[in-house]
Amino acid sequence: MSIIIESIIKVKDLRKIYRLGKEKVIALDNINIEIKTGEVCCIFGASGSGKSTLLNMLAGLEKPTKGDIIINKNRINKLSEKKLAVFRQKYIGFVFQSYNLISTLTAIENVALPLVFRRIWKRKRMKMAKDMLKLVGLGDRLKHKPTQMSGGQQQRVGIARAFVSKPAVVFADEPTGNLDSKTTVEVMRLMVKMAKDDNLTLVIVTHERDIAQYADRIIQLKDGSVTDDYIIERDKNNENTDKTEIKNIEDLGEIVV
Ligand SMILES: Nc1ncnc2c1ncn2[C@@H]1O[C@H](COP(=O)(O)OP(=O)(O)OP(=O)(O)O)[C@@H](O)[C@H]1O
Ligand SMILES: [Mg+2]
Repeated sequence: MSIIIESIIKVKDLRKIYRLGKEKVIALDNINIEIKTGEVCCIFGASGSGKSTLLNMLAGLEKPTKGDIIINKNRINKLSEKKLAVFRQKYIGFVFQSYNLISTLTAIENVALPLVFRRIWKRKRMKMAKDMLKLVGLGDRLKHKPTQMSGGQQQRVGIARAFVSKPAVVFADEPTGNLDSKTTVEVMRLMVKMAKDDNLTLVIVTHERDIAQYADRIIQLKDGSVTDDYIIERDKNNENTDKTEIKNIEDLGEIVV
């Protein structure tokens, strides 16, 4: 018996053109992709290839010039700003390279914030945020403000905030771009575990080959076009171990910036 897994994200004939006076930049050129529910997908490519533009459009932060983006059956490029904001609160989590925590709020308050929009009452919000911070190993940093934490700790707060409401899709743009290599491994493992535990879809943008190895699938961009789309085959017996066998990953070497 074969199981058909629905695509949660569908991108059709997507184009994004930026115009600056007479200058025209084709940031995305006719992109067509589908991403399945529960897939950990990596958008990989050199600087300027269009990764952030694509992610911002998928997350409804920017409008396409042409084409459609359908998430969970919602054609998000057709939504009004107001409906889009509600859609994002309901379905989307975002992890930023520079963490983007609110500096005046403590760790627990930052993580509890998305739950305000879900109309969850305060005591429950704080309990959920606390549990989430414990899960990311920050049970002893609940009352710390962003400046009172290390970069890796701030990013773990950012991850807790993105996942706390169990959104259908979490987008991450260079989530480890400001972290050292040891912390990068911790942060990547944490994000993938959280996505897998709840069958959430995770889309990560990176230009680092080491990051791409955590994904189920790698979509490679070059000059605004998809130049490759790999499914990573893993040895099922060794899943979630360091012995994971990756096919084709070596081929990525030549396009790394
Ligand atoms: N607001 C904008 N106005 C004009 N051009 C833009 C704008 N944003 C991006 N671009 C251009 O679109 C192209 C794609 O940019 P994008 O930020 O998506 O690249 P990227 O793959 O995320 O790169 P990096 O790895 O450096 O973050 C680049 O040529 C960039 O100069
Ligand atoms: Mg970028």
